[in-house]
Amino acid sequence: MIQLPGLIDPHVHMREPGGEHKEDWDSGTAAALAGGFTLVLAMPNTRPPVTDAASLEGALAAARAKARCDYGQYLGAGPDNAAAAAALAGRSAGLKMYLDQTYGPLRLDDMTLWMQHFERWPADLPIVAHAESRSMAAVLLMAQLFDRPVHIAHVSLREEILLIRKARERGLKVTCEVAPHHLMPPPNPPPNSQNLGEGQGGGRLEVRPRLNTPEDRQALWDNLDAIDCFATDHAPHTLAEKDGPNPPPGFPGLETALPLLLTAVHAGRLTLDDIVLRCHTNPRRIFHLPQQPDTWIEIDPDAEWSLRATEMHTRCGWTPYEGMPVRGRVQRVVLRGAEVFKDGRVLAEPGIGRNVRDC
Ligand code: DOR
Ligand code: ZN
Repeated sequence: MIQLPGLIDPHVHMREPGGEHKEDWDSGTAAALAGGFTLVLAMPNTRPPVTDAASLEGALAAARAKARCDYGQYLGAGPDNAAAAAALAGRSAGLKMYLDQTYGPLRLDDMTLWMQHFERWPADLPIVAHAESRSMAAVLLMAQLFDRPVHIAHVSLREEILLIRKARERGLKVTCEVAPHHLMPPPNPPPNSQNLGEGQGGGRLEVRPRLNTPEDRQALWDNLDAIDCFATDHAPHTLAEKDGPNPPPGFPGLETALPLLLTAVHAGRLTLDDIVLRCHTNPRRIFHLPQQPDTWIEIDPDAEWSLRATEMHTRCGWTPYEGMPVRGRVQRVVLRGAEVFKDGRVLAEPGIGRNVRDC
């Protein structure tokens, strides 16, 4: 048995309000604990999105009632909420800006709108950008012009990680995260999709940013030292939606991230210290998160098992890694002194979780 600090995932989609058939604060935080995460930061692209005081308080009220682990809630940058969002900044996990193709209504194309947010959002609170390729370059310029930090979500491309490395060498305050599926992609074709027919099953592999090429993937591995965080981008949608005519992008990730990372440790591609740095130490620093006292996870680094959706807690009911053999498993999770997960069972009651901005 090895003890690690409680993991922090700065990028999850809880789907509440508006998508509770995919996930809610109860099922999503149960999945977090089962995956070894004791603190999650929730994205604002709900229906309606979290962009003002009423929607923020609504999301936080749902979390207060249902969350089984600690949490924060992002505000979304919209076309006309720069002043209102900045006034609420201290209650939020940070500001999320969607500057590229995504799921939900929050995409901002006009760079003068980006500037309004960069001007007003407090410099000591995080801005997280979904910005790919050249929009990522544009947001790095914005960070430099306004002399403030920016965190780049789910980096997936060689050109992105190389540009981030160069920007940091030149003193820009840029940090970044990479999702496990951009380092260790799910099998293609996806498991169990044969019954969908020849060439089908593609909806299950839809994700934004898209699955990257082997060259992009290798560049991420080669530049591991430039990757600050591993973040799941836990984006649950049901199989009916993924196999339907307009498949929404996204994979559930909370319950597969740590087993995949531990499997990489077993293969000699990562160390446990690499995981602790990117799933605890760095996210806590970058997002100004409080210590969670008496909080840890216990793992069996050698356990051999296979990922199975039927054993998971996410409501979406599937994983693109179905059947994948992995090494390393979460045995027990302790949150603020209480045993909240043991041997496959979530023991935490809904409502035990705390808002990190109330601490
Ligand atoms: O794959 C994705 N899913 N990318 C996004 O940008 C949004 C996310 C979601 O909310 O489903
Ligand atoms: Zn996301």
